[in-house]
Amino acid sequence: MSLATVTPLGPLQKHADHATPLVRDAWYVAGLSREFSRALLPRTLLGARVVLYRKQDGSIVALHDRCRHRSFPLSKGKLEGDKVVCGYHGMVYNAEGRCEHVPALPNTPGNIRVDSYPVVEKAPLVWIWMGDRAKADPAAIPDTSWLSDPEWATVGDCFPIRTNYVAMHENLLDQTHFSFLHAGAVGTPEWATAPMDVTERDDGVYLRRELKNSPAPGIYAEPMKLGDRPVDRLSDAGYVGPGLHVAHATISVPEPENGERAAFRVNIAHVITPETQSTIHYWWFNSRDFALDDADISALFHAASSSAYMEDVEALAWISDIVESEPPGYREMSFRSDRPGLLMRQSLQRRADAEMEKRRA
Ligand code: FES
Ligand SMILES: [Fe+2]
Repeated sequence: MSLATVTPLGPLQKHADHATPLVRDAWYVAGLSREFSRALLPRTLLGARVVLYRKQDGSIVALHDRCRHRSFPLSKGKLEGDKVVCGYHGMVYNAEGRCEHVPALPNTPGNIRVDSYPVVEKAPLVWIWMGDRAKADPAAIPDTSWLSDPEWATVGDCFPIRTNYVAMHENLLDQTHFSFLHAGAVGTPEWATAPMDVTERDDGVYLRRELKNSPAPGIYAEPMKLGDRPVDRLSDAGYVGPGLHVAHATISVPEPENGERAAFRVNIAHVITPETQSTIHYWWFNSRDFALDDADISALFHAASSSAYMEDVEALAWISDIVESEPPGYREMSFRSDRPGLLMRQSLQRRADAEMEKRRA
């Protein structure tokens, strides 16, 4: 796969923002494997109410959570075998969303159905496709295989955030905020000025930064027991698609002493699913290739990651409050260092435009 070097932004490029229609033709995470059971689970995804449950064979079903009769939430009904029975007047829907029984009628019309959505489980994640069904290709689900690989130890959590997914992705592609918003955890003053190599491929935007001979940030120094000794730091991070940002970090010890580990790797998966136009479901996973069974280091990583990400949660909610309450048309300034986020916003805009065009056709 060839990598295209980014060219300067043209003045007429359109950039997705908080008001751009959500991209629907994409795989998003509906939730974690452990959340789904034989209970009916309601969840709002891309502005639609969805009810999810496991069939008797363990596979997961996702249906529009709204009865076609009087809009009763199907999630407030009950499961009978693999079928959902509406709790208001007893209509029965099968796992494909087709109504098989209307108790008030002698015969059931064959054309009543609620929307159903393709679901693919790749534990610990459950992916859903809410766009054009014909385009739902499971092979396009992004790789997160290390999350279930025993060679990696993973901690993670889920934070709902009051922000649009565009702002969240831009935050993740913007590493120049590390040294300020996260001064205590992932930022060091040197990191803010480290050179950045930006590439685009397959609708994604990727950046690579390298910093040599500099102390590790707090989030790594403590669990890796590095103290303040200088290390080499390499970060590959990228917007993989509307539902996922992945960062790979390698911390190398230039001159390891007797038996000391020479390199530590950390993968971070930021899983983003729009709940509505202005809120997101956000799951993060911090995976490491060292100290796999060390519960204290897991706790340390969880606490440090949580406090760093909560700084983003808070900042994004503050920004969202301003953006959504003031009149539209305000022109934010952008700098060269904002290029990764702007490229991502162009990509989202192109995809949103193409979907709107298709819907109009
Ligand atoms: S609202 Fe569901 S059967 Fe009437
Ligand atoms: Fe951040």
